[in-house]
Amino acid sequence: MNTQVAIIGAGPSGLLLGQLLHKAGIDTVVLERQSPDYVLGRIRAGVLEQGTVDLLREAGVGERMDREGLVHEGVELLVGGRRQRLDLKALTGGKTVMVYGQTEVTRDLMQAREASGASIIYCASNVQLHELKGERPYVTFEKDGQVQRLDCDYIAGCDGFHGVSRKSIPEGVLKEYERVYPFGWLGMLSDTPPVNHELIYAHHERGFSLCSQRSQTRSRYYLQVPLGEQVEDWPDERFWNELKARLPEDVAQRLVTGPALEKSIAPLRSLVVEPMQYGHLFLVGDAAHIVPPTGAKGLNLAASDVNYLYRILLKVYHEGRTDLLAHYSPLALRRVWKGERFSWFMTQLLHDFGAHKDAWDQKMQEADREYFLSSPAGLVNIAENYVGLPYEEVV
Ligand code: APR
Ligand code: PHB
Repeated sequence: MNTQVAIIGAGPSGLLLGQLLHKAGIDTVVLERQSPDYVLGRIRAGVLEQGTVDLLREAGVGERMDREGLVHEGVELLVGGRRQRLDLKALTGGKTVMVYGQTEVTRDLMQAREASGASIIYCASNVQLHELKGERPYVTFEKDGQVQRLDCDYIAGCDGFHGVSRKSIPEGVLKEYERVYPFGWLGMLSDTPPVNHELIYAHHERGFSLCSQRSQTRSRYYLQVPLGEQVEDWPDERFWNELKARLPEDVAQRLVTGPALEKSIAPLRSLVVEPMQYGHLFLVGDAAHIVPPTGAKGLNLAASDVNYLYRILLKVYHEGRTDLLAHYSPLALRRVWKGERFSWFMTQLLHDFGAHKDAWDQKMQEADREYFLSSPAGLVNIAENYVGLPYEEVV
């Protein structure tokens, strides 16, 4: 088998890159380890920056998002019982975010791939990357017990944090930057109307909580929990009671409870590897960086990488600009680090670190909350990062 760009992984990164390249007449093959149902079973965040929304539209997959997604012009931060609405639109000169689940983004992209007839191979096992530094890289994999070979010009490693792409880079090449946090998020999805028409990020001495949503009838709530906590220890009633205890009286009273459709716990961590290129391999999205979910940046940073790699490959194939390939990693990383900074900052600002922060750091955290939520400059700072910083041009 032969293609121009081999894409490893059919998460949002791989599918979006594949769709954009296909529309531009560049041939791709997507190799995914799991089945489509498995990929669609993963529940993840759902806040899209304007740049992500625009890129999905450019890829031709914006129709259902534009119909069913909810445009949010603001978000609420709740600290010490005080509610502070961030008017995103007013604070950023007209920018908003779109609430539309990552699962739905993935579903739309999968359907578009299917309709385009472009090649996608699910349940591909033992994917291995070869000759990354050579002129003719190739990928081998197993499908239905047969070993197959895919020759290509470039490989896009879109296979997430646990994928094979990053691990294919020889030891000593990548520098890893990591921060782990002493807690996780327990998430719950339920068919109940959201407690508020906008998202609420709440700091509380019992721990952080987030009131999010997927639609007018489906809610997504999160609780900060200590590491080591098990989902089984959190029957629905305990979850709802704890959420109410972390919200102000009037909000708690409005909360509509119901059975959980899904519950899961994810530890929080920040991680970046540099560089995001090794020879003909380019790392994209979670394969190169992880953020804690507090800033809603995971999917948006993946889209940002896709944006840069797509625009570079366009110029490579249409204008012969192979010199641009070396720009991918520095360009992508500049924006990645700003997203990492914001996710780290929001995590620091809103969580309870207990004994993990000393008295000084706790005071700094309090001062940050006071300052950022009362100063117009502080509010603009959070708002412009939340809606997403602009992309640089690829020239
Ligand atoms: N071979 C083929 N496919 C693989 C392999 C492998 N060895 N390893 C992993 N994959 C697949 C996974 O099954 C998954 O479908 O790669 C895909 C990676 O998808 P994601 O983990 O969703 O990563 P990405 O597409 O970069 O999306 C980033 O996802 O995790 C969230 O917060 C993150 O929202 C962000 C988004
Ligand atoms: C979600 O809806 O799942 C969500 C929203 C905002 C976040 C994190 C998760 O910051």
